[in-house]
Amino acid sequence: MATAIVTGAARGLGRSYCRALSDAGFDVVAADLADPSETVNEIRAAGGRAVGFSGDISSASDNEALAAAAAEAFDTIDVLINNAAYYSQINRSAFDEVSVAEWDRAFEVNVRGAWLACCAVVPHMRAQGSGKIINISSTTCFKGTVGFPHYVASKSALIGLTRCLALELGPDGITANTVTPDLIPDPSLRPSDAASDKFVVAGRALKRTQTPDDMIGTILYLAGRASDFVTGQNIIVNGGAFFQ
Ligand SMILES: NC(=O)c1ccc[n+]([C@@H]2O[C@H](COP(=O)([O-])OP(=O)(O)OC[C@H]3O[C@@H](n4cnc5c(N)ncnc54)[C@H](O)[C@@H]3O)[C@@H](O)[C@H]2O)c1
Repeated sequence: MATAIVTGAARGLGRSYCRALSDAGFDVVAADLADPSETVNEIRAAGGRAVGFSGDISSASDNEALAAAAAEAFDTIDVLINNAAYYSQINRSAFDEVSVAEWDRAFEVNVRGAWLACCAVVPHMRAQGSGKIINISSTTCFKGTVGFPHYVASKSALIGLTRCLALELGPDGITANTVTPDLIPDPSLRPSDAASDKFVVAGRALKRTQTPDDMIGTILYLAGRASDFVTGQNIIVNGGAFFQ
């Protein structure tokens, strides 16, 4: 059986990815700064196999511990989904009023975290001669968002990181791709999502709110054998909104 690590798995999209990967037959390692027990318990209750890991994705030692825990629990590490982000808790401000600490935290978690997770997991994938890395970006990289320069810049960096990973890891049989969601509202976490969604839906070919389930087909495609010759790509899942 194949194993998938999902970071940012305690709630939101990461939790949905964990459930879907388990339903598709993967063993799941649910990693988060917050307690991922609810995700793990949900998978186990449905008959799947999952372990949780609590740690900070921006820390090198926590990433090493995550990879070791995954390998110990399930032997192989076949898929890494870099989904954890400094996102819902981020402070929004005008571009010249973002504090340096806030700027740095966005990059520590969103960029350094994904890079460090790859550094920890890739030795296991290299030893197997296979692996799939999926980095989660955001359509805001192509549109920009007022008051969000640190987040948007950090998510844009992941697209470049993915291309570097694809080039360096291709000879080892490891693919690296980006998946880019559009706004998937969670007004309980981000009250402004509800108002933004009306505007976003109007710009789509498919005129409805995007849900976590809309991401699952693309995630499973990139995690599975059907995408074995696909690497360095960015798949935008946004209901056909076009950027000029
Ligand atoms: N929801 C959207 O509209 C949307 C749109 C585009 C992209 N995305 C991206 O999708 C991903 C998931 O989005 P979401 O809406 O579920 O976000 P969310 O804020 O609800 O969840 C993020 C998760 O990451 C975890 N996390 C934060 N910092 C961490 C750290 N240092 N170490 C480990 N875990 C940490 C949080 O605890 C949380 O469980 C993010 O990468 C986000 O940037 C979301």
